Amino acid sequence: MTILVTGGAGFIGSNFVLDWLAGSDEQVVNLDALTYAGNLENLATVDGDPRHVFVKGDIGDAELVTRLLKEYQPRAVLNFAA
Ligand SMILES: NC(=O)c1ccc[n+]([C@@H]2O[C@H](COP(=O)([O-])OP(=O)(O)OC[C@H]3O[C@@H](n4cnc5c(N)ncnc54)[C@H](O)[C@@H]3O)[C@@H](O)[C@H]2O)c1
Repeated sequence: MTILVTGGAGFIGSNFVLDWLAGSDEQVVNLDALTYAGNLENLATVDGDPRHVFVKGDIGDAELVTRLLKEYQPRAVLNFAA
């Protein structure tokens, strides 16, 4: 099973992702545009973890979001992008 987290490199999103991966085997697809607020260093401890799939992109990119939904079929989407 997979969840899609948007804005998962930001303050709340990255803490959510780390907490999620610490307590679940479920895969997290993390879509973040890496604006001034996004920082992959927030996610350094899960770098290389196969359960964490980071995708750099914009939630407004309908083609990208459609592709991710089709490919990963997440059971839930959590939006922290802002
Ligand atoms: N931090 C708080 O105290 C607080 C309190 C209440 C509500 N919120 C809300 O929670 C949400 C997250 O807050 P935060 O503090 O983690 O914000 P943040 O600015 O730290 O993180 C936002 C993340 O979203 C990403 N992002 C921005 N635009 C994007 C786009 N178009 N596509 C993909 N990614 C994009 C940024 O790169 C960043 O990683 C916001 O909606 C905020 O308003 C935050």
